[in-house]
Amino acid sequence: MRIKPLGAPPVRIDPAAALVGHVAVPGDKSVSHRAVLLGALGEGETHVRGFGRSGDTQATVDAVRALGVEVEDVAEDELVVHGVGLRGLRPGRVDCANAGTLIRLLAGVVAGQEGEFVLTGDASLSARPMERIAEPLRRMGARIETVDGHAPLTVTGHAGLRGTDYELPVASAQVKSAVLLAGLNASGSTTVVEPVPTRDHTELMLAAAGVRVVRRPTSVTVEPAGALRLGEVDVPGDFSSAAPLLVAAALVPGSDVTVHDLGVNPRRTGLLDVLERMGARVSVFGRRRSAGEPVASVQVQPGELVATRVSATEVPSLVDELPLVALLGSHARGETVVAGAAELRVKESDRIEAVNDGLRALGGRIVSRPDGWAVTGVPARLRGGRVDARGDHRIAMLGAVAGLASVEGVELEGAETAAVSFPGFFELLESVTRR
Ligand code: S3P
Repeated sequence: MRIKPLGAPPVRIDPAAALVGHVAVPGDKSVSHRAVLLGALGEGETHVRGFGRSGDTQATVDAVRALGVEVEDVAEDELVVHGVGLRGLRPGRVDCANAGTLIRLLAGVVAGQEGEFVLTGDASLSARPMERIAEPLRRMGARIETVDGHAPLTVTGHAGLRGTDYELPVASAQVKSAVLLAGLNASGSTTVVEPVPTRDHTELMLAAAGVRVVRRPTSVTVEPAGALRLGEVDVPGDFSSAAPLLVAAALVPGSDVTVHDLGVNPRRTGLLDVLERMGARVSVFGRRRSAGEPVASVQVQPGELVATRVSATEVPSLVDELPLVALLGSHARGETVVAGAAELRVKESDRIEAVNDGLRALGGRIVSRPDGWAVTGVPARLRGGRVDARGDHRIAMLGAVAGLASVEGVELEGAETAAVSFPGFFELLESVTRR
């Protein structure tokens, strides 16, 4: 890729001849956030191995520290969290930085703890919707104030929460998790009904910590917990961090990339189904389980790509990978349509417009719609040009992959934002890139 810093960013991503190699990616961001939060609420020590340290997950470590929890940094990817119990957090003010998962889950965690907790975030996080968690938490008796539906959130925690039966109006694992975590400190059981299944890391980890969790096809129920005992968590590789490499391998002729020790929870791997449908060669092998999560090696090689359609029921299983699907669509014969994905408008950026503008600037034929895109693919490389990450890590990674697959390369503005979820992204991409 030859990343040439031009002073400060932008960085230049040159076209690749091929991507070849065997790699591993850092630990899953969603699982890492949850391991620290549940470890903080646990009894005794929780040893987290394979912790995916990044801007977002470091914000979670700093958050629980600010609330009185001791966290030992054993290594870059290893932590020991000294739990303070389900009601032991010290009230205070927490900077959630760019991390949507942190602010939403933490609001659920502190709702049933005594005292005032103020949760703030950066400009991007402060523009994202928070009523979606405040509303169900209030139904449970929580006292939570937003500023016009946004952060800062002020949560006046207390011990009188009631269990609830809540049907998610949007398919969001963050909202589901906020409600379930509040349910740990409520009276009676708490059920979340989800019309479309979303990632289930919270319920898997709660069950591993000894909480009574009942799972049905479209709902999950937790019982109030006396105590959490997690002990050890081995975090699998982050599928969403591997996704840019896998898509680059599918796009650049002659590529062959294998990612090992990768989390392949079926609620996260919708991209593999899409890659297969579009004609890439995908192989998943060496399946095993680690800390309740499925793990495997995933190999991707290119193929003649054809267009596909992604709709609402599939969206949660690849929500963070949808920008990459638009890029795949640009290189596939026919019209690729992504629909039912209006949630992308309230991520770290408005990803529908960011992807639309980014791919157009590179010569892509894409039209944005309220809930997705229509992409007319040509079985040829994108021309190349300039992409602005807009402060969004997933758009930065999209721009890098687009550069590798393009004819002229990409100048990427705001490349450094990739570190929000994957600090070593460019180095890892470089290590498998041939010219
Ligand atoms: C996440 C859930 C998803 C995802 C985000 C992480 C989580 O958000 O986009 O990157 O860890 O629960 P929503 O649940 O709001 O869709």
